[in-house]
Amino acid sequence: MTAVVQVENISKRFRLYHERHRSVKDRIIHPGGGTYTDLQALDDVSFSIDAGQTVGILGRNGSGKSTLLKCICGVLKPNEGQILVRGTLAGLLELGAGFQPELSGRDNVYLSGSMLGFSRKDVDRLFDSIVEFSELEGFVDTQVKFYSSGMYVRLAFAVAVNVDPDVLVVDEVLAVGDERFQAKCMDRIRQFQLEGRTIMLVSHNADQVRSLCDRAIVLDHGRMIADGPSGDSVRIFREALSADSRSVDAEAPVNVSISIESVTTSTGRFAAHTNEAFGFEVALTSNESFDGFFVMELHTHDGTLVTRTDPTTAPVSLSPGHQRLAVSLPALPLLDGDYELSVGLLSGFGHSVAAWREQVATLEVSYDGRASGLVPLAPRVNLA
Ligand SMILES: Nc1ncnc2c1ncn2[C@@H]1O[C@H](COP(=O)(O)OP(=O)(O)OP(=O)(O)O)[C@@H](O)[C@H]1O
Ligand SMILES: [Mg+2]
Repeated sequence: MTAVVQVENISKRFRLYHERHRSVKDRIIHPGGGTYTDLQALDDVSFSIDAGQTVGILGRNGSGKSTLLKCICGVLKPNEGQILVRGTLAGLLELGAGFQPELSGRDNVYLSGSMLGFSRKDVDRLFDSIVEFSELEGFVDTQVKFYSSGMYVRLAFAVAVNVDPDVLVVDEVLAVGDERFQAKCMDRIRQFQLEGRTIMLVSHNADQVRSLCDRAIVLDHGRMIADGPSGDSVRIFREALSADSRSVDAEAPVNVSISIESVTTSTGRFAAHTNEAFGFEVALTSNESFDGFFVMELHTHDGTLVTRTDPTTAPVSLSPGHQRLAVSLPALPLLDGDYELSVGLLSGFGHSVAAWREQVATLEVSYDGRASGLVPLAPRVNLA
């Protein structure tokens, strides 16, 4: 299969000058002597994406996600490496990257179209469907600088999805739309997937990445620390976050380091019947005493979150050293199927992740009845 997007060893540095901290006299006496620091926003990143793939980009704030997308869209030039894109690409970058604030919505649509290689006639043809999708009929002749951020994103998304691109690149911006518009965008992204287009999507929502993307890339301080099936990448992303929250999150207990070594059951199997009790043990080691909360998640194979438990119902006190937590669920209100189990500990302060194990086991639930779906409901019916 041919790669549609090929990223080869790209690095991007931003030079941050400290010129403004120098006095005018100093600048005149030592011209050009301003100090600067280089910030490595991307560090030797390589990957290639085949036609029809949906790839999520995960990473903490400042890890280089937007910089990567801007390089792919040609808005920024990497210092090293090269990028090849086959076919047409439409990008929805950070707010502010894209439209000319002084121009009206209408003029910006034409401008974006011409930057994507469309003639005026082509844009005439697309114009109505763009405005209709954006639902901004009353505002097309208003200058974009007066748009709210939600309106801005609506128009930008409407342009990106109506120009028939082979590759759609979407930075986190969708989060600023209201819920209904977000759902509409998601539907459109799913439709793009069905049409076999290639999609790159930055999101902070790991569940969304898991359910939408076949593959995810994780950036950390500009380096690519994972590139694989989204479940695996989400695990690495969460583990990196939890490692980090120990050192960076000021609210987290400063030196606590907890590792979850294993998750086991007494029978050796993760199997249960619908509505029966189920339990397992979590073996872990903590270097210090720790007061926090236990949390568990179940996902279906297609990445749908079935449940994330309320941490406040499961407080945990650990002493230093090795210990085991017994976790019991009095009843398992799930129908038959396989569920991926993830477990973690949150610190009591700010609920930052102190330890996390993603997809440690697959729980097989069996059911003898005739209900179908995820949860068993047993309606009782009487004549009213
Ligand atoms: N134009 C620029 N000039 C200087 N530094 C920049 C510029 N753009 C980005 N950076 C820096 O590069 C690093 C990566 O930024 P980037 O915007 O790519 O992060 P991000 O992963 O998209 O973060 P977020 O999740 O907050 O959107 C950050 O440290 C940022 O401050
Ligand atoms: Mg960003």
